[in-house]
Amino acid sequence: MLRLQTPLPERYRIASDGDLADMIGQAKAALGSRLFILGHHYQRDEVMQWADARGDSFGLSRLAAGQTEAEFIVFCGVHFMAESADVLTGDHQRVLLPDLNAGCSMADMANIDQVTEAWDEMADVVDTSGVVPITYMNSSAALKAFVGRHGGAVCTSSNARAVLTWALGEGRGDQVLFFPDQHLGRNTGYELGYGADDMRVWNPRLALGGLTDVEVKESTLLLWKGHCSVHQRFRPEHIAAFRAEHPDGIVMVHPECAHEVVELADLVGSTDNLIRGVAAAPPGAVIGIATEIHLVKRLGDETPDKTVVCLDPLVCPCSTMSRIDGPHLAWVLEGLVEGDVRNQISVDAETAEWARVALERMLAIT
Ligand code: 13P
Repeated sequence: MLRLQTPLPERYRIASDGDLADMIGQAKAALGSRLFILGHHYQRDEVMQWADARGDSFGLSRLAAGQTEAEFIVFCGVHFMAESADVLTGDHQRVLLPDLNAGCSMADMANIDQVTEAWDEMADVVDTSGVVPITYMNSSAALKAFVGRHGGAVCTSSNARAVLTWALGEGRGDQVLFFPDQHLGRNTGYELGYGADDMRVWNPRLALGGLTDVEVKESTLLLWKGHCSVHQRFRPEHIAAFRAEHPDGIVMVHPECAHEVVELADLVGSTDNLIRGVAAAPPGAVIGIATEIHLVKRLGDETPDKTVVCLDPLVCPCSTMSRIDGPHLAWVLEGLVEGDVRNQISVDAETAEWARVALERMLAIT
């Protein structure tokens, strides 16, 4: 169901940064241990400073699953992460997303109708009992439930290798339908030793994904035609320009980047892994990073003994991943103090049951 973000009352819109910090700080203190704020690494500093715990999308799902006490989990991230937190937390807990516009365009590139149709079309060509569906965390709860029902699992950028190895393991599957990010699927496939002929792109707009029967039968990995608009912007030319300027520089990229970018990098990893990579680099290092700009900027600010730059000089910020701002956080927290639960993210019981199966498989594999 589509829910629209209601415009904020004027007092939040006109508040200064200092006023907002006071509102958030006071609400947080009043709520005490009833509240737990989770922050994804892409959040702005003005929001991240209030997080009780930070993480990549895998770490945050683990934190949500382990947070059994707090009555309210305020998720400073995006919609699919908040849905996963709702699925993994108890019935006595409520998950709130401060701004309902915080979404992910890649997650919207695959919906349940398209995936069900693709599965049915595949069933005309191959025995789908040998196909394991794997969904990237960046997907709706309905897709996670589909995967749970059909013997598959969720993966994130930090565990895609382990999850694909599991999916193609002895006695489980011969083929994987991977959605919605073709790049993470392809990069992981190459990492596992598969070649270009083992992986084909499934275009949901075309009959049988735009493939022939033989191509579907012979592919080990069928990669959904989806992508992240921010990570897809990074090109090999950016890396070449960075290396020309900094011959000893270190290149770190997120696996949502295209394969021709990933193969030129010194380190490929999730947001958490990129943070660890920067921490491990020697003092004085110059590091070029391909991921969302708020994280790159924070890494630069927090490691003054190293130079951290974005590999794309034009820097295209993700308008939805870092959507949550001080006014929305203050609005949601003050609502909780007043007993008004705003922007609760709630997955219906049947979807949640199967989405939990898929998420828990991921947690068990990793
Ligand atoms: P991480 O799992 O690396 O935090 O990635 C989340 C994401 O949405 C990347 O665009």
